Amino acid sequence: MASAMNGCGGGGGGGGVMKRMGLLRVQYYCVMGAVAAAVVLATLLYMPAPATAPPTVAGVDGGGATVRSSAAAVDAAAAAAPGGGGVERGKGKRKHVWSGEEEEVAAEKKAAAGVVGRTYFHHPTGRLSDGRVIIDFICESLNTRELNPYLKSIGSDYSNGVNFAMAGSTVSHGVSPYSLNVQVDQFVYFKHRSLELFERGQKGPVSKEGFENALYMMDIGHNDVAGVMHTPSDNWDKKFSKIVSEIKDAIRILYDNGARKFWIHGTGALGCLPALVVQEKGEHDAHGCLANYNKAARQFNKKLSHLCDEMRLHLKNATIVYTDMFAIKYDFVANHTKYGIKWPLMVCCGNGGPPYNFKPGKFGCDDLCEPGSKVLSWDGVHFTDFGSGLAAKLAMSGEYSKPKVKLASLVNAGSNKSSDS
Ligand SMILES: *[C@@H]1O[C@H](CO)[C@@H](O)[C@H](O)[C@H]1NC(C)=O
Ligand SMILES: *[C@@H]1O[C@H](CO)[C@@H](O)[C@H](O)[C@H]1NC(C)=O
Ligand SMILES: *[C@@H]1O[C@H](CO)[C@@H](O)[C@H](O)[C@H]1NC(C)=O
Repeated sequence: MASAMNGCGGGGGGGGVMKRMGLLRVQYYCVMGAVAAAVVLATLLYMPAPATAPPTVAGVDGGGATVRSSAAAVDAAAAAAPGGGGVERGKGKRKHVWSGEEEEVAAEKKAAAGVVGRTYFHHPTGRLSDGRVIIDFICESLNTRELNPYLKSIGSDYSNGVNFAMAGSTVSHGVSPYSLNVQVDQFVYFKHRSLELFERGQKGPVSKEGFENALYMMDIGHNDVAGVMHTPSDNWDKKFSKIVSEIKDAIRILYDNGARKFWIHGTGALGCLPALVVQEKGEHDAHGCLANYNKAARQFNKKLSHLCDEMRLHLKNATIVYTDMFAIKYDFVANHTKYGIKWPLMVCCGNGGPPYNFKPGKFGCDDLCEPGSKVLSWDGVHFTDFGSGLAAKLAMSGEYSKPKVKLASLVNAGSNKSSDS
C-alpha cells in the first residue's frame, strides 16, 4: 500500500529545509526538496475495521506533504536525515548539528509555531502541511489509521503498513539520501524481518499474505523532473527515460517480493507551484503557470504511463494503476472556480497577500490564510490539507486512472486478480 504520496502535502517549515539542503549543495533540489518531495512508497495493509483510531500518528508523521503517511514516512526520514523534510522534527538537535543556523531555526520555529499541522493534527507531525497529506486521506478512506514512517524509532506500529516517504526524495541516486532505491531496500529489509518473526513463531507486523494483499503506492519523481529543468530541453527525454527505468526496477523488485497491487501517481502540474511561478523565469500559460515545467511534467508522465502499460503485460497477476495527477492538479488551477478556489496560485503560509502570497527569500507566514479556506498550496510547493483532500478524492475515484479502477475496489479485490482488461 502504499502510500505515500505524500508528495503533495506540504508544508510548513520549508524554509529551513531549503537552507539546509543548500548546505548540502543540492541547491536545486532545495527548492523542490523541501517542498515537493515526496514520495513515497508505502505499503498499506487493508484493515476492514480500524483497529486503532487515527491518532497516533502524530508524532511521526506529519509530514509534509508527502509525507505522512507519506508524511509519516517522510518525517521519520526527516528526523533521521538532515536533508529531510519535516520542519519540526528534531529542532533542538538540529541546532547542534547545524550550528551557525540557530537563529534561522529559531525564527523558523517561531514563524511556524501553532501553524504547521493546525488543521487536523493540531501540532506539527513532520508533514509539510497544515494538516493531512494524500496518503492520510487514502488511509482514512480505507478505514485504517495513518501509516507510521519506516524510520519512526519510538512507538511505531506497522500492522497496517509502512510509509517510506521522505521529503526531498528523488528517484535519481545520490541527490537525496532516501532515493527510491534506498526506500525499496528499506522495504525489502522490513519484509524479511517481519517474515522472520513469523517463522520463529512470533507475530510480525505484516504476514506473507499481508504483503501479497497490500497496496503499494508510489508518488515520486517531482524533484527529479524539476531537477532537469535547468538543462537543455533536448536532454529531457533521455533523462526522463532513465528516471522511469529506475521506477521500473523498483516495481520489479516489489513484485519479486510479492507485491501485486500497485497504485502509481504521475507528477503534478509543477509549473503551477506558486514557489516556481514566482521565482522561475519562463513563459506563463493561460492560467498563469510556467509552460515549460508543465511541458516537462507531461512528458515525464507520458513515459511513466507507458511504463505502467508495459508492466501490466509483463507482470503476471499484478494490477498496476496509473493515476494522472497532472490532470487533477491542473484542473484545480484551470477550473478553480468550480472548486470554490479564488486564488489558485496562492500560498496559505506566506507573505504579501494575493495573488501569490509568496515572497522569495522570506520565510514564515506573516500572512496566513484562514483555517479551512480554499487555498491549495501550503508553502508554495506542498499542498494544504484542503488541497490534498481534494486531490486524494479525485485520485481515488478512478476517473483519472488507467485502468479506471477505484482505489477501494483495488484494495478489496483478491490478490490473484489478473491485470489485464
Ligand atoms: C497467478 O495466479 C494464479 C492463480 O491464483 C497462480 O496459480 C499463479 O501462481 C500466479 N502467478 C504468479 C506469477 O503470481
Ligand atoms: C476545465 O473544465 C473543462 C470542463 O469540465 C474541461 O473540459 C477542461 O479539460 C478543464 N481544464 C483543465 C485544464 O483541466
Ligand atoms: C483467487 O482466485 C481463486 C480462483 O480463481 C478464487 O477462488 C479466489 O477467491 C481468489 N482469491 C481472492 C482473494 O479473490
